[in-house]
Amino acid sequence: MSGERETRVKSVAIIGAGAAGAVTAAALKAENYYERIQVYERRESPGGTWLYDGDPRPLPPIRPGKLPNEGVDPPLKVPSQLPQTTPPNQQHRYDQTPVYSSLTTNVPDIAMAFSDTRFAYGPFAPHYVPRQYIQNYFSQNKTDSLLVLNTTLEDLSRIPPAEKGGLERWKLTLRKYDALRHVDIWWEEEFDAVILATGHYSVPYVPYVPGLAEYVDTFPGRVVHSKNYRAPLLYADKKVLIIGNSASGHDVTAELVSTAQLPVYQSRRSASRWDGDSPPPGIAWKPVIKEFQLDGRIVFEDGTHLDDVDTVIYCTGYLPSFPYWNTQANGRPLYDYKAGRLLKGYWHTFFQDFQTLAVVGFPRTLTFRSFEYQAIALARLWSGRNTLPLPPVEEQEKWERERVEKIEREGGKFHDIPWDEGETLGWIDGLFRIAGLGTLKGEGRVPPAIGEDVIWALEHLRKYPEPGKGEGDKKDGEGREVEADGWVVLGRKKKDSLAFI
Ligand SMILES: Cc1cc2nc3c(=O)[nH]c(=O)nc-3n(C[C@H](O)[C@H](O)[C@H](O)COP(=O)(O)OP(=O)(O)OC[C@H]3O[C@@H](n4cnc5c(N)ncnc54)[C@H](O)[C@@H]3O)c2cc1C
Ligand SMILES: NC(=O)c1ccc[n+]([C@@H]2O[C@H](COP(=O)([O-])OP(=O)(O)OC[C@H]3O[C@@H](n4cnc5c(N)ncnc54)[C@H](OP(=O)(O)O)[C@@H]3O)[C@@H](O)[C@H]2O)c1
Repeated sequence: MSGERETRVKSVAIIGAGAAGAVTAAALKAENYYERIQVYERRESPGGTWLYDGDPRPLPPIRPGKLPNEGVDPPLKVPSQLPQTTPPNQQHRYDQTPVYSSLTTNVPDIAMAFSDTRFAYGPFAPHYVPRQYIQNYFSQNKTDSLLVLNTTLEDLSRIPPAEKGGLERWKLTLRKYDALRHVDIWWEEEFDAVILATGHYSVPYVPYVPGLAEYVDTFPGRVVHSKNYRAPLLYADKKVLIIGNSASGHDVTAELVSTAQLPVYQSRRSASRWDGDSPPPGIAWKPVIKEFQLDGRIVFEDGTHLDDVDTVIYCTGYLPSFPYWNTQANGRPLYDYKAGRLLKGYWHTFFQDFQTLAVVGFPRTLTFRSFEYQAIALARLWSGRNTLPLPPVEEQEKWERERVEKIEREGGKFHDIPWDEGETLGWIDGLFRIAGLGTLKGEGRVPPAIGEDVIWALEHLRKYPEPGKGEGDKKDGEGREVEADGWVVLGRKKKDSLAFI
């Protein structure tokens, strides 16, 4: 914590038992300092994204362009008297995973796993390997006893400091589904500090497209999101259009070639690094959709169209959602959807105005491994054993301001941390420096080295082969990209080599 700040944090609630929650619990426990650590998880087991749901519940109707805080993922109404028992909630909470049956990891295991334990095997393992890994991580670190499962954080409200200059605390309103009695049990808890490890791949995003909302109403069930995609058999002989060209769009399109009517159509807004000059056999590329018409016609920006499409699969990603954040009690929103960022944040982890609130797992960058650095930095900071204090609030504000300016100038997203120019390593190094060493008696985790082997794996092991790799990296005299055939590419920003993560 910065010089002038109070350091007495003794109880910490971690929300979410995915990879981020797993390593955060381990880091806090290793300090042997905190008197109370609890991990609240809404699912029946740890694992987060990797908890496969073979038969997912249907998603609520698609609402194109609508944001989670515009009625897509509204908060539940908290009973006026607590504790309380109520009939079980029926509102959809997006708690199931987007992972599909054939999914394997897309980051080499040496770079994806936490530094102290490797995956059972790699480099690109089936989805149940990371699930087993996260679950074992809790038992291995004896943090499984800290888990409170089937329990959703429904409201998070700040408790102002008891005295001037003191630390704020947090009131949590929790809801546990009691499967035996088929009731929801609601109660409150207070903690000195809270770490949000609730992930950001739960609430599907479908962009606004003229006519899409009416198309969804006219052809119920025809438009779906990749969150509920599980296997290609369901689409046998169907005429399918996929929208999106990142990891989900690529995988779903490639997999559907085995069963769907050919060609499988894929609408791409931009090329990915693994695209060649023409689509693979069985796939037809289309540009962005211009409009959906009520006679079923789908018109693209180049004036071409498709009729009689059986299924449209939006693989357009996800938006973060914080329905538990009590804007009124906390004095401000947590997240700005227009700007695409956490407000008043610092280093994608801390908050300028809430010293006892933090987020682990938010930036889009190396996943598990980077969560480890965030977790260790927080564990050291709140135990007062950190090496480097957080900078004064003015400097944290400057960091935020300068990052906003950089994004406005260069494009990209506030919480995307690219690999190629060294930004990821710079960010991790900042956390490494804050954390510092453990005590002589061995209390506290020491932030690990990234190591040449990890860096080599990230830069050389690719799940998705990149056609003509190397050629695309050629530059002409003015630093512009040169393709294999010698043409200079204009107006196409090359994606970061780890942009798919
Ligand atoms: C389809 C898909 C494939 C992916 N593949 C890869 C890959 O190959 N390699 C890779 O490195 N990354 C991959 N990722 C990214 C993946 O999300 C991260 O690897 C990592 O699992 C994120 O962990 P997390 O703990 O931050 O979030 P999550 O795994 O989402 O965990 C968050 C947890 O918080 C819980 N939670 C949420 N809200 C509440 C609440 N209010 N109260 C209580 N609990 C709550 C959730 O139930 C969940 O268990 C993939 C993501 C997706 C969607
Ligand atoms: N392990 C695996 O193999 C695997 C598989 C699937 C997903 N994942 C992970 O899951 C996470 C989410 O991946 P994702 O592919 O679902 O989502 P994503 O990476 O966020 O990609 C969203 C896609 O939708 C496109 N898009 C967004 N808005 C659009 C619009 N208005 N019109 C047209 N296109 C639009 C984007 O185009 P632009 O590129 O032009 O922005 C992009 O291609 C990532 O972390 C990914 O690594 C991993």
